[in-house]
Amino acid sequence: MDSSSFNTLFTGKFLIKLDEVDSTNNYLKEYISNNKPIEGTVILAEVQTAGRGQMGTTWQSQQGEDITLSVLYRPKFIEVSKQFALSAMASLAVHDLLTDLLPTRKIEVKWPNDILIDRKKVCGILIENSIRGSQLQHSIIGIGLNVGRMLFEGNYQATSMRLEGYEGGKEFVLKRLIEGLEKYYLTLKNKGNEFILNKYHDVLLGVNQELSFTDKDETYIGKVSKVNLDGQIEIQTACQRVKKYYHKEVKFNLFRSLTF
Ligand code: BTN
Repeated sequence: MDSSSFNTLFTGKFLIKLDEVDSTNNYLKEYISNNKPIEGTVILAEVQTAGRGQMGTTWQSQQGEDITLSVLYRPKFIEVSKQFALSAMASLAVHDLLTDLLPTRKIEVKWPNDILIDRKKVCGILIENSIRGSQLQHSIIGIGLNVGRMLFEGNYQATSMRLEGYEGGKEFVLKRLIEGLEKYYLTLKNKGNEFILNKYHDVLLGVNQELSFTDKDETYIGKVSKVNLDGQIEIQTACQRVKKYYHKEVKFNLFRSLTF
């Protein structure tokens, strides 16, 4: 598969394929500082030796089986205070792809941008933006999608497309992902933040659905009422209080403990 395989205007038209790299996000960041890559440039790696997750965590993928890539966009049309729109649009692209390829499974987005199949994480997204003044200069959208991996070594909260019944190839998933990203990026550009945020709410775990949450003070039952454009989530508790959080300030309790 090469860049001509993608039915896009610019995403993936410049594609760098690597057998191994520490992190595709790191590689793209370095590349930007030495070159002037076109918007839509994609860095794709067969394996990452130091894949990075959100908030300093690591991201594991299996050589040749999974998708690890970073896409460069230059979203100068988005205000810095509304940059969560990029997270929402990338989540929607992955959500659409999984819904099409695994039509019998329940695909949801767990705030801020984990993609779940039947409540297990199949995809993580790490977005790194560079800001000049009040404008976004560029955005590196890093996506790790578990496609073919069969083993998760004791991690019962993770899964892959193959484990959930996908029997097709990785290349087809990659094509759909690149095309879906461009589609949602252009939708964001043309229809605006609110349009994307509304669609994001439609696929968000915990909307109109009671879940257990834990914050620094307590564990409680509540429903997600909304996510704001700065990325803050609002949860309405069973006793009608509204609690607001930024990333990592609240935990979703999706799984019962395996030890009773
Ligand atoms: C998370 O859920 O914690 C985010 C994981 C993001 C992983 C991807 S894989 C491609 C890109 N390069 C990285 O080092 N991280 C992102």
